[in-house]
Amino acid sequence: MEASLRAWRERADAALARALPATDLAPRRLHEAMRHAVLLGGKRMRPMLVYAAGTLFRDADGDEAARFDAPAAAVELIHAYSLVHDDLPAMDDDALRRGQPTVHVAFDEATAILAGDALQSLAFATLAAAPADAQARVDMLRELALAAGGMCDGQALDIDATGAASGTALADLERLHAMKTGALLRAAVRLGAIAAGADAPARAALDRYADALGLAFQIRDDLLDVEGDSATLGKTAGKDAAQDKATFPALLGVDASRRRLEALAQAMREALLPFGERAAALAALGRRAVERTH
Ligand code: IPE
Ligand code: IPE
Ligand code: MG
Ligand code: MG
Ligand code: MG
Repeated sequence: MEASLRAWRERADAALARALPATDLAPRRLHEAMRHAVLLGGKRMRPMLVYAAGTLFRDADGDEAARFDAPAAAVELIHAYSLVHDDLPAMDDDALRRGQPTVHVAFDEATAILAGDALQSLAFATLAAAPADAQARVDMLRELALAAGGMCDGQALDIDATGAASGTALADLERLHAMKTGALLRAAVRLGAIAAGADAPARAALDRYADALGLAFQIRDDLLDVEGDSATLGKTAGKDAAQDKATFPALLGVDASRRRLEALAQAMREALLPFGERAAALAALGRRAVERTH
């Protein structure tokens, strides 16, 4: 399992390096900023979910894996763009990301805005060139477009709730998390299924897993902001409380947030039961989402 995850990660890294514009091409500063945002670290959770969801329906190792490279790179490009904009002074105002200075710090704010914009359009151009039939390509483009829009909706809700954490209802926080983080993680799972040729009912069966994963991933992120340190996280710890962000620990406390995480881990295991052994990679990624330390 670990070998597959490592191989998929390497495939995704190679696809990303191929997709990104070269730094000897003008405008060089923009291209350097885009490569900084994408290539310097990151767990590659979303690309690995594409391959792992694909293995439910067909072989995603060896030559067969190539069909998943474009959707894997595309979803990571959207994610990288979301992080560049999330870190901007107008949003979370963060100086550290993946153990590096954030893009607006390493370059400048205008370059960071443009790098995010350009990464987003590169994601769709990359996906449009996927080796799939026309209907599958349209389905994937629509899936990613809706998820990228959902992420923006979630980020807007996050900004609205910032400074008003205690006035946020739990149901609203769950919706915020499901959109800002869950939408793209769910899209990663669905892209893998579409690229593998899964039909609509099979795709829908995966949504229960993906929805639990999305919420769990952000609850873990919220907990790590409280309990982690900046060196391990590669981003500034303790910022959520400092900015009065609406988070699970802020609303429920640390212990109840941990219990919720355990319940979501159980929900993921149950959702994967019908898929049997073929779901081992998705199960491993689900565990990573709840147990990760950065
Ligand atoms: C960070 O995502 C932002 C959230 C949606 C919680 P990741 O934890 O996947 O960040 P990288 O890609 O590994 O840096
Ligand atoms: C970010 O949530 C979700 C995105 C859409 C980027 P956070 O603001 O909690 O992510 P980090 O902690 O900065 O990675
Ligand atoms: Mg944020
Ligand atoms: Mg942030
Ligand atoms: Mg966070």
